[in-house]
Amino acid sequence: MKAILKLFIIMIIFLVCLWWALFHRSELRWDWTTINVAKISFDKKFIFGVAGAAYQYLGSENSPNSNWTDFRILDKASQEFGSKAGVSADFWNHLDDDIALMKEMKIKAFRFSFEWGDIEPEQGNYDHQAIAKYHDLFGKLREHGIEPFMTLHHFTHPKWFEAMGGFEHEKNIEYFVNFCSFMVQEFGDDVRMWATFNEPTLYATQGYIWSVWPPHQMNIASAGIVLKHILQAHVAAYHSMKKKKPDVRIGFVHSVMQFDPYHAWNPLERIACYYLNRIYHDVVVNFFSNGTYAFNIPFYVNITAENADAPHTIDFFGINYYSHVLLKTDLFGEDILKIAYRPEEIKTDTDLVIYPEGLYRAIQDVSDRLTSKLHIPIYITENGIADVRDDRRALFIERYLYALHKAIEDGYDVRGYFYWSLLDNFEWHLGYSMKFGLYHIDFQTQKRSLRCGANVFLDVIKKTYGG
Ligand code: BGC
Repeated sequence: MKAILKLFIIMIIFLVCLWWALFHRSELRWDWTTINVAKISFDKKFIFGVAGAAYQYLGSENSPNSNWTDFRILDKASQEFGSKAGVSADFWNHLDDDIALMKEMKIKAFRFSFEWGDIEPEQGNYDHQAIAKYHDLFGKLREHGIEPFMTLHHFTHPKWFEAMGGFEHEKNIEYFVNFCSFMVQEFGDDVRMWATFNEPTLYATQGYIWSVWPPHQMNIASAGIVLKHILQAHVAAYHSMKKKKPDVRIGFVHSVMQFDPYHAWNPLERIACYYLNRIYHDVVVNFFSNGTYAFNIPFYVNITAENADAPHTIDFFGINYYSHVLLKTDLFGEDILKIAYRPEEIKTDTDLVIYPEGLYRAIQDVSDRLTSKLHIPIYITENGIADVRDDRRALFIERYLYALHKAIEDGYDVRGYFYWSLLDNFEWHLGYSMKFGLYHIDFQTQKRSLRCGANVFLDVIKKTYGG
């Protein structure tokens, strides 16, 4: 009797998995041999731009008050923490040259961030020299018809804010909101497109679970709390900014990276992916679509909140897309599950694969569950490849632009695409080893030179706007 019951349960589990495998979130794959990527075209109104972030373009020397300033890069060979971020692309000292590059490319927009620590080095004291640099940047961009898209928090914040515990404490939200109000008051006439946060799921997990970014903690519950406070901070900042400047557009930038089971029928892989997708993705989409926050892993953490106002605090949604991750069972390995690759997949230098179908899926998912309901547009605020040999960049760009084009053709409201990044720059814990730039930088001389693989992008821009 017992044996029959066992068999019955196994059969049920098997059938449920089979049903799940057949009907749920399966991995989309296109046959690239039948696709002509050269055939795509974009409307003249579509915004092509490039993206960067203040700390990544300025480094520790130019941003002495950031929570990242004292971060030392791990040297892979010696396994020792070595140098700081230095001056990176030394952006303020090459502003004219870099804007000239953007002008030459004919891009319509530049996505960048404010370095909060430079602007408010001490709580409540604003640095007018730092502020003047951003006014100069916006003036020069506007002279060339380039629209600034500015992010208020791109992983970094002042040392004083970090010392208070950053977003770990709800009471600290007001410091961020004060900063945002001040910024929109100061720059509201220069900047129309604002994002409060860049990829907070990454910020929370890298800094509070995996410990590779400041503040180097390992506590899943803290990550859930930090993310909750960040989302609440967005809502509060939105209102206070709109009160000061009702006509600015305020959005939120989220990283979408699907976790896919290597074997669609495998329940272990599916369950792991289900929870990872919830924590890295659904948590944000649900918050903005229905005001519920649920960061939970059964028997482990369960952090929840409600904010019915959240869906009314977003004018556009930014998707940063780099790749998906495949998880495969490895019963005899250290972790039971491991990251795996399909034989046909092409790896980039970050070990992420080129998966343009994933960008299509991301747009589809965000649109179906969120942006079309709220009638707001999507912008692809980041997409790019680390490719030191420059032998995959052209393919990457062609295929991702094809996916983007297809999504727009299929009716999804995507208004812009920003390539990450204009220049090589400081890639957080990976230091300078990752070469994302359309322009290579020789960090000894600061000389910029266009990479061959970038030409595909430049051609599409020229084809779109003429010239
Ligand atoms: C971040 C960037 C980063 C890029 C490439 C995104 O997650 O917003 O700061 O440089 O990915 O890894």
